[in-house]
Amino acid sequence: MNDSVKKVFSYDYRHLWALPATTVMVSCVGKSGSPNIITIAACGVASSSPPLISLAIGVNQYSLRLIKETGDFVVNVPSSEQAYITDWCGSVSGRYVNKFVEGKLTPGRSIKVKSPYIVECPVNYECTLWKSVDCGSHELVLGEVQLIHIDRDKLDDSERGLDPAKFNPLVSFQQEYWSLNGRIAEWHFTRRRV
Ligand SMILES: Cc1cc2nc3c(=O)[nH]c(=O)nc-3n(C[C@H](O)[C@H](O)[C@H](O)COP(=O)(O)O)c2cc1C
Repeated sequence: MNDSVKKVFSYDYRHLWALPATTVMVSCVGKSGSPNIITIAACGVASSSPPLISLAIGVNQYSLRLIKETGDFVVNVPSSEQAYITDWCGSVSGRYVNKFVEGKLTPGRSIKVKSPYIVECPVNYECTLWKSVDCGSHELVLGEVQLIHIDRDKLDDSERGLDPAKFNPLVSFQQEYWSLNGRIAEWHFTRRRV
């Protein structure tokens, strides 16, 4: 093959994000009972039976500690209109800030797990911690889906599935936020001085 067709890179963090990724807010609660939220772009489906969602969480993240304390979490899928609050939850730490209170997010009482879900997010997966794997800088956290909450107004007419015309998820691509309609902003745009 002609070498000029492809430029070859050794590892570069930036190029990991050529993988478009659903960007979620994961809610959790530790033994103290104070709930927290962490934004995660490294999220995917790991298995359908058992139904597993994977999250790569930095080994020193406060939220990882909380997830291990209670053994559960909720994966909340924001819509593309929720880029600001998603970015903010990924820019401050629950060690210092109550993200539900300061972010004006409503904790909903989950049915199967202790962690609350985020009422404002259209889709919420209640998960129990199935396994976590040490991968180096991050742990691969696998959550077994126990229940799924979906806003009724985002469902199709049969009320069985999501209607893509009604729910436009927030996607990360090349360290920027995109909707399925196009680019919204770069990551950490909430840190910009106004
Ligand atoms: C768009 C975006 C995506 C992120 N993805 C991840 C991720 O996949 N894994 C991770 O450990 N941290 C990720 N972060 C960083 C955490 O969300 C951030 O460090 C957060 O403040 C941790 O919150 P905590 O200290 O309350 O646990 C991301 C941040 C942003 C803004």
